[in-house]
Amino acid sequence: MIAQKPGAQLWGENCIRCHNLPSPTDFNDVQWATIGLHMEDRASLTETEAEKIIDFMKSAN
Ligand code: HEC
Repeated sequence: MIAQKPGAQLWGENCIRCHNLPSPTDFNDVQWATIGLHMEDRASLTETEAEKIIDFMKSAN
């Protein structure tokens, strides 16, 4: 079940579908929060999935 996957895995599986995989270090925490909302929509992610991915981005930048 996708909601049980860790953020790093969701990132690798979902964020590469439409563009190159964005690196966590490309943006700061505030920017990731905004991008997360936009990409949650575009990538048809659940809120939980998007939160996990953004938490991972914030922890890895
Ligand atoms: C359904 C297609 C699609 C998926 C899936 C997708 N994106 Fe995007 N993304 C786009 C498009 C289209 C753009 C460029 C237009 C825009 O910036 O709104 C974009 C732009 C971006 C940008 C650049 C924003 C900026 O301000 O320069 C980042 C960062 C990004 N995506 C991150 C992600 C992350 C993280 C994920 C995974 C959660 C993701 N994307 C999944 C379509 C997608």
